[in-house]
Amino acid sequence: MPNEELRVAVLGAGAIANQHFDAIRATEGFAACAVADIDSGKSGEIARLYGIKAYRDYRELIEQERPDVAVIALPHFLHRETAVFAAEHGCHLMLEKPMALSVSECDEIIEAGRKADIRILVGHTQHYIAENILAKSIIESGELGKLVMIQDARHTNYFHESRPQWFLDKEKSGGGILANLGTHSIDKIQWLTDRTVRKLTASASYYGSRGNVEGSGMIYLELDDGVPATIVQSGYLGAPRNETELIFTGGMLKLVTGESLWISRGGNYEKLGATESANPFELQYSDLLTAIRNHSETSCTPEYARNVIAVLEAVYRSAETGSEQILRRRS
Ligand SMILES: NC(=O)c1ccc[n+]([C@@H]2O[C@H](COP(=O)([O-])OP(=O)(O)OC[C@H]3O[C@@H](n4cnc5c(N)ncnc54)[C@H](O)[C@@H]3O)[C@@H](O)[C@H]2O)c1
Repeated sequence: MPNEELRVAVLGAGAIANQHFDAIRATEGFAACAVADIDSGKSGEIARLYGIKAYRDYRELIEQERPDVAVIALPHFLHRETAVFAAEHGCHLMLEKPMALSVSECDEIIEAGRKADIRILVGHTQHYIAENILAKSIIESGELGKLVMIQDARHTNYFHESRPQWFLDKEKSGGGILANLGTHSIDKIQWLTDRTVRKLTASASYYGSRGNVEGSGMIYLELDDGVPATIVQSGYLGAPRNETELIFTGGMLKLVTGESLWISRGGNYEKLGATESANPFELQYSDLLTAIRNHSETSCTPEYARNVIAVLEAVYRSAETGSEQILRRRS
């Protein structure tokens, strides 16, 4: 018997919603059924574009539509309540990053998911970007020797006028550039190297033109086996940059995230062509579908995503107190 098509509802009709709807449309086995947003102008536009029903209240959507999958593409402070509500109604979850505001909120989502026996994929997009997948395979092959250190740098105008205000309100977003974009870097470093953060120190600055969140941060961290890494992020005015350099005993890799991958075996960097060209959002959806059909784990589990939030909490603790944070003792 052919597999039944699963109905997908998206909660949140904001900036990222279209990428979700396009990927749902491209995934055989999924069909979008509805969208919810408190801004009925936004949800109405999406509903017209994709030929689906719009709701203002996400609870009403879930109770009436009974979707198989709920996509949580909402402000961070709503992730926990919506994920738990959808899980309690039996929906599998495509949950946008960062997973939630705190480790304890992540635990509530994990518990609700366990009780409902649903699949959850947390949208850490870094895992699905073609150049990142290629970089990970080179790291795993060992061809560049032993990994020695990593430096990750991101510069973007974080306080631009079109950024929704909730991103700049600590209560609603969980933090500024470090919570929103720093979590991408924490995830990228851990996932690429298949290691976790063991300890860190961090500092942050608060000179944003609006809101109460940090506008820059610097993190020095060590992975399980002592490999050191720096994450440097600035959201003030300047030249945009999003680069991760991995330094080995036999060469270097440079990732310009979402754009290109470069390799050096001793000379200047040479550009590598990424072989995998599928859209990252489509890869996320096809992975979730496989996990639902096979009743298996997704490629980005809530337990993994909880760990990213644990590191972020340690970053803020260190920035506030000035002290080193140990996440894991050396075994
Ligand atoms: N994976 C990625 O690379 C990536 C990129 C961008 C955003 N994101 C994540 O996606 C999520 C959404 O981000 P965004 O940029 O689309 O934000 P956004 O502000 O553009 O969209 C959020 C939407 O939620 C709606 N909303 C607010 N409260 C609501 C409620 N109670 N009920 C229903 N709707 C409500 C708003 O009206 C808005 O349309 C965040 O978790 C963000 O971090 C991920």
